[in-house]
Amino acid sequence: MKPPLRTIEWIPDRPGVVLPGRVRLIDQTKLPGKLVYLETDDLHKIWTAIKTLQIRGAPAIGIAAAMGVVAAVQKSRARNGAELVAEVERAAGYLATSRPTAVNLFWALARMQRLARAGRARPPAELRRRLARAALRIRDEDAAMCRAIGRHGIRLLRDGCTVLTHCNAGGLATAEFGTALAPIYTARQRGWDVRVFADETRPLLQGARLTAWELAQAGVDVTLICDHTAAQVMKEGRIDCVMVGADRIAANGDSANKIGTYAVALAARAHGVPFYVLAPSSTFDLTLASGARIPIEERDPREITHGFGRCTAPGGIKVYAPAFDVTPARLITAIVCEKGICRPPFRPALQRAAS
Ligand code: MRU
Repeated sequence: MKPPLRTIEWIPDRPGVVLPGRVRLIDQTKLPGKLVYLETDDLHKIWTAIKTLQIRGAPAIGIAAAMGVVAAVQKSRARNGAELVAEVERAAGYLATSRPTAVNLFWALARMQRLARAGRARPPAELRRRLARAALRIRDEDAAMCRAIGRHGIRLLRDGCTVLTHCNAGGLATAEFGTALAPIYTARQRGWDVRVFADETRPLLQGARLTAWELAQAGVDVTLICDHTAAQVMKEGRIDCVMVGADRIAANGDSANKIGTYAVALAARAHGVPFYVLAPSSTFDLTLASGARIPIEERDPREITHGFGRCTAPGGIKVYAPAFDVTPARLITAIVCEKGICRPPFRPALQRAAS
């Protein structure tokens, strides 16, 4: 298998030092046509990259936000730690307005803010270096969590099986390797033959543009289907299990993921197909009792009426464009995180995994 994609990295200007530097990320709006990297140390460009899905997927958004904070303060003229903390708070507050649903964004920003506040008494230059190292740690920990999810998740697969997935929860959505796709890559490394059906994932086609692309690059047997074909392939008996990622998992196991995931879960239940959610514990939001309180992003209606630049709906038509839905815990067979496989009842299982 090819080496994993480096979806997002921090590139120091000079070897041997961490600062100054810049973020380098794969511009996912250009895939699958072109593999283009965006390099920037500009806070607003990082905010825009998150907002416009140049970088997307819950864990990758968190990493981008942490690196965004570093980029924002790396050339700061703060005279003391307290002034630098104020700049960190401002940058974090701004980045937090980019997208509302993936809790990893807020998790990463909170971690950076906590570190800044704890270092308020330190000289600004040292605090800046600490922040940079923390952002790199968030990236590296995410890569390790994905590998662990792969090791646990492979227990749910067998050689020769077929997995259906929705949206992109692969290497492009994380530091590398992915969450929902991690067991598939792990299986592939072990020489297993695992096939994937990838939902195209309307309206922005993360399944077609990203999942199909990265699986094909890795040599995995992948078949692209329209979203509405998911129930049909389950009825035809072609799917052994569903594996999807998550943007936020409430304390009771209700899981927000890309719009359409709920319909896949309903179809899976109707056809007796196990439905697995795979996500790092940074995606857990145990402050929310249920998924009812998960904020759901609504996207620009033009993403539906003018997808990829072509007008496909009558002018002035009313549009409802939630980017995510919440799959109720009762439809989820298991939640796989870096600590292991959590089975119902999810509340105690998630508590244990998060502690
Ligand atoms: O709008 P997106 O592309 O950021 O949505 C991404 C998803 O819904 C993913 O499935 C989720 O973030 C999990 S990524 C490991």
